[in-house]
Amino acid sequence: MSVSAPIRRITIPQLRARKGQEPIVVLTAYTTPMARLLDPHVDALLVGDSLGMVVHGLDSTVGVTLEMMALHTAAVRRGSVRAAIIADLPFGSYQASPRDAFAASARLLAEGASAVKLEGGEEMAETVAFLVARGIPVMGHVGLLPQSVNVLGGYNARGRSAEEAARIMSSAKAMAAAGAFSLVIEGTVEPLARRITEEVAIPTIGIGASVACDGQVLVVDDMLGLTGAGTPRFVRRYAELEAAITEAATGFAADVRARRFPGPEHVFAEKKPS
Ligand code: KIV
Repeated sequence: MSVSAPIRRITIPQLRARKGQEPIVVLTAYTTPMARLLDPHVDALLVGDSLGMVVHGLDSTVGVTLEMMALHTAAVRRGSVRAAIIADLPFGSYQASPRDAFAASARLLAEGASAVKLEGGEEMAETVAFLVARGIPVMGHVGLLPQSVNVLGGYNARGRSAEEAARIMSSAKAMAAAGAFSLVIEGTVEPLARRITEEVAIPTIGIGASVACDGQVLVVDDMLGLTGAGTPRFVRRYAELEAAITEAATGFAADVRARRFPGPEHVFAEKKPS
């Protein structure tokens, strides 16, 4: 009898070692069935706090709670065997103190995350070092910071002025120096994303930050065509599932109204008397 080798989950040190190597493939996932579909194709599944908008209909990521992140992290874990799982620390769970950040991170690791992600720069360096020293791998997130939308005033691309570019570069270097294993660069002009990737020793994962990064991430609903007509410039749609779902629902409704569904093949027969 042959016993097939168990599938091993990609580890955080393996992702860290991919700097400058084969590009790292990341997609967001929030549910068990989607994690199951994506798992064979990606290196990491990001349980992003974008789930607040994508799944729960919130206006921004600011209202996402640790409880929401915990439930979706556990769901993604149940649907995957291979990809590393990275879970976002939600707004309010980590900014006030390293101890808060540790408690929130420990919860997400207990639910199945391999690592956590947090937004920020120098102001978060002490927290990142605190977490890493206590066994929690951390992915940084610089450039456009969705959790700071109320300070930034919107979701425009970052790094256009020399002053802002210098600030984002310092944030990236602070995250790497504090022990982050990787860095998301979001919504950042191409030359800056390229320079960060050249100057930090950890892999950069871009979203709206050009092909210069060491890997790419997209919000899965965006790339599947599930988020309406207004696709952001940095998204390539690989499917049009909204159109497919609309067509399916239209067909079902028409069949029910015309009594074409259920058909004889969908009906349970009575037991024949013996
Ligand atoms: O929450 C999220 O999906 C993210 C990605 C945009 C990187 O942080």
